Amino acid sequence: MLFQKSAQSMIALLGFLVAVASAQAADPKLANVTILATGGTIAGTGATSTTTVGYTAATVGIQTLIQAVPEMTRIANVSGEQVFQIASENMSNEHWLTLAKRVNTLLAQKDVHGIVITHGTDTLEETAFFLNLVVKSKKPVVLVGSMRPSSAISADGPVNLYNAVALAATPDAAGRGVLVAMNDQIHAGRDVSKSNTTMVDTFRTPELGMLGYFQGGKPFFYRQVTRKHTTETEFDISSLNVLPPVDVAYAYANVGPTAIDAFVNAGVKGLVHAGVGNGSLPAKVRPALSAARAKGVVVVRASRVGQGILARNGEANDDELDFVVADTLSAQKARILLMLALTKTNDTKEIQRMFYTY
Ligand code: SIN
Repeated sequence: MLFQKSAQSMIALLGFLVAVASAQAADPKLANVTILATGGTIAGTGATSTTTVGYTAATVGIQTLIQAVPEMTRIANVSGEQVFQIASENMSNEHWLTLAKRVNTLLAQKDVHGIVITHGTDTLEETAFFLNLVVKSKKPVVLVGSMRPSSAISADGPVNLYNAVALAATPDAAGRGVLVAMNDQIHAGRDVSKSNTTMVDTFRTPELGMLGYFQGGKPFFYRQVTRKHTTETEFDISSLNVLPPVDVAYAYANVGPTAIDAFVNAGVKGLVHAGVGNGSLPAKVRPALSAARAKGVVVVRASRVGQGILARNGEANDDELDFVVADTLSAQKARILLMLALTKTNDTKEIQRMFYTY
């Protein structure tokens, strides 16, 4: 018993000494990168090493993720925080506000040079776009996930995490908006989408293109986004605890007004319509959207197609209907911009300006 107690104290002391040593070991020549962990498959585990579906996301803590990639200590002084531990289908507006506030607080510190956010891939593109609009710093912010759980053969999490830290540690990543590091590629948070249910090369920016590559663990940039982001936006979430309710209604052959009417009756302030083609409005849907607008709901026309500019006054007379168009944003990203826009104004001309700005 006595032996057990003194062994425990010895282990605790050793742990403390290791913590002190690693704190002191911070190399002043390296950037300080904070990893904020939110869960997802990158922190997931399966029953066996071949379990790559039907595993449990968000089980492994941030310290274990860091310890699994000791090579990171050669490129940055890495520290970690567990912000949430969730699968990303459960990411909510409130999670986003909490995360964004933490990112802004950390980046305001002189001794934090970049942030990496580990995240489930299912809604990673949405969190990246939200942060792209509300982070108030030019310092690098990089989202990363994985398609295979940490317990899998050839798990993609460790190399993705290493690349993400390399990206967050490079001054070249500053001022480029929130970035996504997956599968040896660098994507813009504004434009990237998850495009495949299970493949490791699922993150794509098909037509506008990715920003660069990783090679040998080093980032190389070839493009930059032209839309405004981070410090250039007008959105300030520092005093917000909720965002205005906005939902997405999806179009398909034979669709009726049921979902739109339900969203309006539930009290949405904004509605994104993921129309067919160039945002066309089915005959049964147009009066429901028009009625929503008459009740004060701001309507944004987007497309379910996934690429291309949504033409204003093309498939519908937006001037007459007083609708907004989503430009090139997907419906799920248009929802985010509309929520933030509604924190500033209900004026549809102003909101349309925002969609052409960000
Ligand atoms: C999730 O999004 O949390 C699960 C799926 C993934 O991370 O790939």
